[in-house]
Amino acid sequence: MQQDLPATARFLIGGELPVCRLGFGTMRLTGPGSFGWPEDREEAQRLLRELPALGIDLIDTADAYGPDIADHQLRAALHPYPKGMVIATKGGVTRPSRDRWVPLGRPEYLFQQVRKSLEILGLDVIDLWQLHRIDPKVPRDEQFDAVRQMRAEGLIRHAGLSEVTVADIEEAGRHFPVATVQNRYNLADRGHEAVLAHCESRGIGFIPWAPLASGGLASAEGAVRRIAAAHGVAPSAVALAWLLRRSPVMLPIPGTSKLKHARENIAALRLELSDEDQAALEKAGA
Ligand SMILES: NC(=O)c1ccc[n+]([C@@H]2O[C@H](COP(=O)([O-])OP(=O)(O)OC[C@H]3O[C@@H](n4cnc5c(N)ncnc54)[C@H](OP(=O)(O)O)[C@@H]3O)[C@@H](O)[C@H]2O)c1
Repeated sequence: MQQDLPATARFLIGGELPVCRLGFGTMRLTGPGSFGWPEDREEAQRLLRELPALGIDLIDTADAYGPDIADHQLRAALHPYPKGMVIATKGGVTRPSRDRWVPLGRPEYLFQQVRKSLEILGLDVIDLWQLHRIDPKVPRDEQFDAVRQMRAEGLIRHAGLSEVTVADIEEAGRHFPVATVQNRYNLADRGHEAVLAHCESRGIGFIPWAPLASGGLASAEGAVRRIAAAHGVAPSAVALAWLLRRSPVMLPIPGTSKLKHARENIAALRLELSDEDQAALEKAGA
């Protein structure tokens, strides 16, 4: 944890579990298409080992990354995890091949996967487990009830959803308290504004995936680049600082395979965008 950060840099997941609002996503620590091992495993290990020193204590992962490879890397680099480190994982999506991500929400599969995640990550309880996708082929009640049961059995502490609507969140909320929602959102893609507003009104953490538009914003021209140059930071830090300022429930999890890029991204936490910067970015993104 970074002691010198303002209180606004932190968020309480489920109203009680503190994290720094800028996290890290592990999807890029796998092979192309998030399948298999990455070419440079050593760099992945160096990067992961450095995260605590950078002040990152929220790591987003999923059994589908690799599959399992991101989690094996996490364990190898960081277990036993530093005190206060929150590993947020996801289950409910299978990887039959490099280019396929197939939801599977049958309760027995979700239970198998949560137990496998505990084993591979080396945890007694998963602080935050997110249903990676609601499976349209399985009754929704059964999927949500499986999550309720995981909490009741103490396998997971908090639960979240991914790629959902406000109606989905309300429906799931009748089975378990929805602590986080993970939807695609960034400066250039704001399709989920209504979900963000709902999360903000309920104190639900909103985890925008692809916060750098899958890398596009790291090489953006125009306002992003100009503001980055003015503040002496990388464009990626500007895109992330815009997100952090956009809402107090925003918890971006930028992904990278390079330690140098992780260092550039963390600069967003201390970057104070002016009202003019924020407005110019808002306009450019739209
Ligand atoms: N819930 C879901 O359905 C879902 C879907 C996708 C992702 N996710 C989660 O969200 C996380 C983030 O999403 P993402 O990784 O797809 O997209 P992202 O964070 O928007 O962008 C990652 C890309 O940006 C590049 N990058 C990062 N920092 C950079 C920097 N400082 N300078 C230049 N390039 C930089 C990375 O390349 P380098 O490796 O070269 O740095 C990588 O190609 C994932 O890791 C995963 O945990 C969730």
